[in-house]
Amino acid sequence: MIKRIGVLTGGGDCPGLNPVLRAVVKTAIVKYGYEVIGFKDGYRGLVENNFVKLDLDDVSGLLDQGGTILGTSNKHNPFNYPVNVDGNIEYRDMSKRVLENLDMFGIDCMVFIGGDGTLTTARDLMEMGVKGIGVPKTIDNDLSGTDTTFGFMTAVYTATEAIDKLHSTAESHHRVMILEVMGRYAGWIALEAGISGGADVILIPEIPYDINKVAQKIMERKNRGKSFSIIVVAEGAKDIEGDMVVNKIVEDSPDPIRLGGVGNKIAEEIERLTGIESRVTVLGHLQRGGAPVPYDRVLSTRYGVHAVELINQGKFGMMVSLKGNRITEVPIEEAVGTLKTVDPNGELVKIAKSLGVGFGD
Ligand code: F6P
Repeated sequence: MIKRIGVLTGGGDCPGLNPVLRAVVKTAIVKYGYEVIGFKDGYRGLVENNFVKLDLDDVSGLLDQGGTILGTSNKHNPFNYPVNVDGNIEYRDMSKRVLENLDMFGIDCMVFIGGDGTLTTARDLMEMGVKGIGVPKTIDNDLSGTDTTFGFMTAVYTATEAIDKLHSTAESHHRVMILEVMGRYAGWIALEAGISGGADVILIPEIPYDINKVAQKIMERKNRGKSFSIIVVAEGAKDIEGDMVVNKIVEDSPDPIRLGGVGNKIAEEIERLTGIESRVTVLGHLQRGGAPVPYDRVLSTRYGVHAVELINQGKFGMMVSLKGNRITEVPIEEAVGTLKTVDPNGELVKIAKSLGVGFGD
C-alpha cells in the first residue's frame, strides 16, 4: 500500500525536468492521493536529508520552466560520497544511509529522474531493496531502452536556431562557420540539428573524420559558387587518429571528462587547408537552458504520469520509455551501461548523405 513517494532530479539539468515533476506530483496527488516528497540537489538530498513536501501549488506554472525546482548535482553519488573529514574530502559509501533515511521518513518508493549516471545509481539502490522507477532525461539522447529522452528536442531546436542565424552571416562574409554542440560521446544533437538546419558538414563521434575530406567538401562547394559553408560538430567528434578534444577534467565528478574545443581545432585546420576564413561558435550550456519545446513538454508529461501509474501497479525496477509513439517501460537494467549512439549506417546518416552532406569519411 503506497502512501508517500519521493522524487529527485540528478545529473546535468535539461529542459523538461520541471514538467516531469509537475506530472508526477499532480498524478500522485489528484489521481491516487499519495503524498510527494522532493529531495534537493539529486542524491545529495537523499543522503543529507534535505527535502521538501511537494503540493499542487508547488508545481503550478512549471510547464514552460527550464531547470529543476529541486536542484540537481552530478557529484553526489551515494556509493562514492564526498565527506569532509578534518578539512579533507574523503569518499565513503553512504548507500545504507539512503535506505535508513527512506525508512525513517516512510517513503514507500522513489522516482529517479536522470541520465546514465543517475539511473545507474538508482539501479544499484534498487538492487539493495529500494523500490523505484526511472525517468530518462538528457539532452544527449544517449540512453538505451528508450527512443527519445526528454530535453533532447529542445537542445536540437536551440542548435537549429543557431545554425539558421549562422547561415546569414556566413553567406555575407563568405566564411566557414563552425557550430560546436554538446552530446558527450553521442552525435544525436549534431546530426538532427545539422539536418534540420541544412549543415554542409556534420561531424559526430560515431564517424571519425578526415580533415582533408572536410576541406575537400568545402572546396567543392566553393567551386560550385557557394562561397560559404556551415559545419556542425559534436563536442565528442574525433579525427581518424581517434582523438577527442578534452576541455577539462572535473576530478570530483563520476564522469570527470568534459569535452570541448574540437570546433577551434577544425577551424584552424580548415583555414589552413582552404584559405577560407573560419569562425567558431560554441553553443555550450545554452542547449540545456530555457523553456522546453512543446514536444518535450508532452513527452515529460507522459513520462511523469506513466511513472506514477507504474508505482500504482507495483511495477518497480523499471524505467519509463518511449517506443515508437507509445509510452511503455523497460527494466532499468536495459537503460544503463551501454550508451545509445548514432548508427553510422542508419537512416538519418544515409538521408543526410543523399543530400550531399559530408561526414568527413
Ligand atoms: O550530459 C549533458 C551534458 O550537457 C553533455 O552534453 C556535456 O558534455 C556535459 O553534460 C557538460 O557537463 P557540465 O554541465 O558538467 O559542464
